[in-house]
This record gives sequence, C-alpha cells and structure tokens, in this order.
Amino acid sequence: MSNQHKKLSFRALQQQEEPPFELLLLADPAMEVLEFYLPQSSIFLALIEDELVGVIVLFPLAQGQCEIKNVAVSPTFQGQGIGQFLIKNAIAVATQQGYQSLIIGTANSSVGQLYLYQKMGFELKSIKANFFLENYPEPIFENGLQAKHLLVLEIGLP
Ligand code: ACO
Repeated sequence: MSNQHKKLSFRALQQQEEPPFELLLLADPAMEVLEFYLPQSSIFLALIEDELVGVIVLFPLAQGQCEIKNVAVSPTFQGQGIGQFLIKNAIAVATQQGYQSLIIGTANSSVGQLYLYQKMGFELKSIKANFFLENYPEPIFENGLQAKHLLVLEIGLP
C-alpha cells in the first residue's frame, strides 16, 4: 500500500518519550545547538500509523512570537507533503496558543526550504549575517553553497 493511503497523524511528544535526535539533527546538525533550545520547546511528531516520519519544534519568544526552530522529515518520506503537513499543524497550534506571529529561520544555502516556507505564506523579515559561521563548529555546505547567513521569515497569525 502506498503512503498516501496510510493515516498521517500529528501529536505532541510525550514527557516520557526521548526526542527523535536522528531526525532533529537533519535540520540542525549541531547537538549543542539542539541542547540549547529543546528544553524550552514543544516538540511535535508526524506519524504514519505508528511509524515516526517527521518532527517540528516550537520555541516561545517574547512579544507574542513563536519560532519553528526545527522541522525535519525522514529522508525516505521527503517530498510527499509531510513537511507542509507539519508546518500547517504548527501554525494551527501557535494560533490556538494565542501567538500573534510565527517565525522560521533558514540558511542562505537552503534553497528548497526557502521556497517551501514562502509557498506557505512566510515572508522574509530579516537577515542575521554570519550566523552559521559564528554559531556552528563545522562549516555547512548544501546545494554547492556554504551556509553563512540566517534568513528569518515570518507569518502573521489570525
Ligand atoms: N529542495 C527542493 N524543494 C524542496 C525541498 C528541498 N530540499 N524541500 C521541500 N521542497 C519543496 C517540495 O518540492 C514541495 O514543492 P511542491 O509542493 O511545489 O511540489 C514543497 O517544498 C513541500 O514539500 P514537502 O513534501 O511538504 O516537504 P518534505 O516533506 O520533504 O519536508 C523538509 C521538507 C522538512 C525541509 C525536508 O525536506 C527535510 O527534512 N529536509 C532536511 C532537514 C531540513 O533541511 N530541515 C529544515 C531546516 S530549517 C529549520 O529547521 C527551521
């Protein structure tokens, strides 16, 4: 049976469950960065039946803002709409929790992710120059480009 016919669900990680580090490290390759934001975050999972296929992390900021710190889909399940499903559900959770806006940051080299976030209604808000050079221990390359700057995108919530 193809994945399209199986049930995709979204739920919060339970307190007794271990965060899915293998997936989280796909989006954020430095464990020390994950350890910094995970304790204050809410972690949500996408499952197909009982199989974990994706994760998304919401981190509260000041002044009615919340941030998607991490979104990742298991490589064999990418390109099937699960990333969009996770982001749509995170927007719904943040709206329900009364946040006024949701932000998401990604590298200048993350071309596909920049497309996805803008397609979902996020608008470019600011650039943190040299963010990846200053905060990550190893150089990061993708799409033949070095990740240097953090592009911050924002969506207003109803
Ligand atoms: N390159 C090109 N296009 C992409 C990419 C990419 N890397 N990622 C998504 N897209 C496009 C798809 O083609 C699709 O376009 P379409 O609807 O016009 O066909 C659209 O974006 C939505 O794709 P989905 O299938 O919903 O995305 P997917 O399930 O693959 O999840 C995600 C996207 C989360 C980025 C996934 O590819 C992934 O886990 N990548 C590795 C980890 C990562 O980079 N995470 C984001 C880092 S930034 C952060 O976490 C805040």
